[in-house]
Amino acid sequence: MADKKGRILTGDRPTGKLHLGHYVGTLQNRVKLQDEYELFLLVADYHTLTTAPEKVDVEATRQYALDVVIDNYSAGVDPQKAVHYLQSDVPETAELTLLFSMLTTVPRLQRIPSLKDVMADLHITEPSSGLLNYPVLQAADILIVKGNLVPVGKDQASHIELTREIARRFNHRFAEVFPEPEAMIPDDAATLVGLDGKAKASKSLGNAIMLSDDPDTVHQKVMSMYTDPNRLRKTDPGTVEGNPLFIYHDLFNPDTEQVAEFKDRYRKGQIGDVECKKVLSEKINAFLDPLRERRRVLEERPDDVIDILRSGAQRARPIAQETLAQAREAMGLSSPLVEHVVDLYR
Ligand code: TRP
Repeated sequence: MADKKGRILTGDRPTGKLHLGHYVGTLQNRVKLQDEYELFLLVADYHTLTTAPEKVDVEATRQYALDVVIDNYSAGVDPQKAVHYLQSDVPETAELTLLFSMLTTVPRLQRIPSLKDVMADLHITEPSSGLLNYPVLQAADILIVKGNLVPVGKDQASHIELTREIARRFNHRFAEVFPEPEAMIPDDAATLVGLDGKAKASKSLGNAIMLSDDPDTVHQKVMSMYTDPNRLRKTDPGTVEGNPLFIYHDLFNPDTEQVAEFKDRYRKGQIGDVECKKVLSEKINAFLDPLRERRRVLEERPDDVIDILRSGAQRARPIAQETLAQAREAMGLSSPLVEHVVDLYR
């Protein structure tokens, strides 16, 4: 892989199936990057424990982990190119997290904005120390495979900043072990608006088209989409800017002439929402068809999904073991030292 530009490490928390917003914001980027870079993708099941630590949650996470692999694959992430693995299959990550947590103060972690957001969203009043340490675990994910580039949403920027700090601190205090990774954050245009017009498509808000939705479901969702609220009749002039109907047309209707024509007629009050929606639902279904085809192949062969994760772990783990050994050695924790001490007492 010497011809690659560097190593990418990114991950998904396995909390459910992925939707078109994930496609626009991250999946298509992964597909694009997998040829130029070495792509490491992890399914962050340890991270899920930070907010869902019950036995039932852990069981659900196992299923979601498989769903996330299938979703990535259906979107075109190639398991021959990407190294896709379950975080807990690389348990060296947990030891590196422990070492890194000694380099990170509690107030520093308390100031990370995502902690307050998650606590508010999930009504958590007292975070576990695992939740507080969430970004340190993420730093270990990235640094244990010496990732150079980390594509993440903008809500994760502060975690990558902490990762860089930890790498610098470690290298300065002990020895140069870790590269300082760069975040790769998509611009706002990559955030897909919800079907209800809310700023973000999300599974929990129920305003998203899932990559796994069947054609009828897609059709129903599109037909009930929020458009221009001030337009009562199709002869009323409509607003195109910021209208989800046209944001989705721009993204998923490859017939740009048709889109331009629809916009023009919409502005003039010469086309109804229903007609624009019908065409949009066809276009989204056409877009999803090849994804459905790839999904079907994997869903029929669940063992293949497990194999993807197993071979991913087989590739990631030796790298993680090597990095952990370097970190331990840099800190003076490696076994030669222990043997040396033992020698003194002989
Ligand atoms: N915290 C990330 C998220 O919620 C998921 C994640 C875990 C991750 N480990 C990572 C992302 C390492 C990038 C790098 O989206």
